[in-house]
Amino acid sequence: MILLDGRVVSAAVKEIIKTETISIVANNQRPPHLVAILVGNNGASETYVASKVKNCEEVGFQSSLIRFDSTISEKILLDKIKELNEDNTVDGILVQLPLPKTIAESKVIEAIAPSKDVDGFHPINAGKLVQGLPAFIPATPYGIMLMLEYYKIDTKGKHAVVIGRSNIVGRPMSILLSSNLPYGNCTVTLCHSHTPNLKEICLQGDIIVAALGKPGFVKEDMVKEGAVIIDVGITRVEDATAKKGFRIKGDVAFDEVSRKASALTPVPGGVGLMTIAGLLKNTLLAYQNKMKAKEETYHKEH
Ligand code: GUN
Repeated sequence: MILLDGRVVSAAVKEIIKTETISIVANNQRPPHLVAILVGNNGASETYVASKVKNCEEVGFQSSLIRFDSTISEKILLDKIKELNEDNTVDGILVQLPLPKTIAESKVIEAIAPSKDVDGFHPINAGKLVQGLPAFIPATPYGIMLMLEYYKIDTKGKHAVVIGRSNIVGRPMSILLSSNLPYGNCTVTLCHSHTPNLKEICLQGDIIVAALGKPGFVKEDMVKEGAVIIDVGITRVEDATAKKGFRIKGDVAFDEVSRKASALTPVPGGVGLMTIAGLLKNTLLAYQNKMKAKEETYHKEH
């Protein structure tokens, strides 16, 4: 069984981004700049955003964290996004989800300029992805594709079973795996909470992407011998023996599934790190797109 190691792959991706950033700065240009917005103080969101900011710094990006109290009005958040959209020193904008119930997530997502939407959640980017046009790909599915590529996992003609239909992971993952891409070309079954015979469908999967948020859901008896298993789950499970009082659990029962899988991502140390790698790649892309557009405008005017 191959361990699909997020530490190794994300480090390799980050090294390339860091080298590119060094060359940008050596050319007397400013580095890419990501702005993360965190509303409230959800423990998991705090951790994710802190990690995103830290990783930006590691590759030489500029990063800013804007925090709001959970009681802020929707308008304050939308006004801030508008200001960041118009700010030429900002390349990527990320609003950490979930948001408090008083704020409509869809309005916030749609307020972000598609050219700065490094999460790839804006309907314009989601639509482009569906049509196979250049777009920002949501960071987690993007990171998973990078991992499949790194380990040269054969996907062509395979049956991929995706469990979970969220806009953040499951749905874009199903689009990517079914696309005519070097690491696509699968036949994809997208399963969710209303799928009957889930076990039978999973047993047909050459590749399973588990993104439903239920710790240990995918068991050995649901997995075909030799299947590739991608575990997207990162649920905090209370554990008094752990230093923080909880442990991070994936959607896959790792020990038993590892007896059957040909390749498997660990949790932690798997997909979570690849999400960050995907986000960094999107931020660099947003920066490069902006610089290219600036150059084209300059050439038109001179
Ligand atoms: N919440 C869970 N995953 C994500 C993500 O990839 N981006 C944002 N902005 N919020 C999230």
